[in-house]
Amino acid sequence: MTQDELKAMVGRAALDHVVPGEIVGVGTGSTVNKFIDALGLVKDRIAGAVSSSEASTARLKDLGIAVFDCNAVGEIAVYIDGADEIDGRGHMVKGGGAALTREKIVAAQSRRFVCIADESKLVEKLGAFPLPVEVIPMAAQRIARQFAALGGEATLRLKDGAPLVTDNGQHILDVRGLSIDDPLAFESGVNQWPGVVTVGVFAHQKAQVCLLGTASGVRTLTFE
Ligand code: 5RP
Repeated sequence: MTQDELKAMVGRAALDHVVPGEIVGVGTGSTVNKFIDALGLVKDRIAGAVSSSEASTARLKDLGIAVFDCNAVGEIAVYIDGADEIDGRGHMVKGGGAALTREKIVAAQSRRFVCIADESKLVEKLGAFPLPVEVIPMAAQRIARQFAALGGEATLRLKDGAPLVTDNGQHILDVRGLSIDDPLAFESGVNQWPGVVTVGVFAHQKAQVCLLGTASGVRTLTFE
């Protein structure tokens, strides 16, 4: 099975976690795009969606799914999103698609986080994938030096030769070479650095469930 087929399989499987009649939280990325395609086929079963990016919003609207602002809804029953890495406790690295800040906001407003991923994303320990960090542009170089002091090498993410600008008008640093032994403490610590908007470690907003696409089918991991 190709990686694309594994993503489509977990995207479809995530429909079982959507609560009928409720608003669903929708993440960002190629795996979530498969989920959105599947959601389009059953859109009459839900009240609408809250989206974590302009890209997902456009895709949802194209399928005729109503998209609500976070401020217009209360607690969201379930949030479905992908990950760049997930460990055996449901802690994740996210932000490969630069949507980490809105993803963390929607995750925080949701009762359950259901992660959908192909099996290549399951890791023993977080940190091999370059850690995305959304930063206020004027703080980028100082934050890069703070990561260097931890042994990390931060590079500014570019798009078409210029710094990538997120949906929030900020920049992304990708940090290689970190050893993230304690994801909760790491997330709390980096979040305190002036100029950090969001660090891509999702330990406080971890997944409760992961639907992992494998060659032999969907493997369900639970982390309650
Ligand atoms: C976007 C994300 C994505 O969930 C993550 O990058 C995984 O993406 P994909 O499903 O394309 O592998 O965090 O900011």
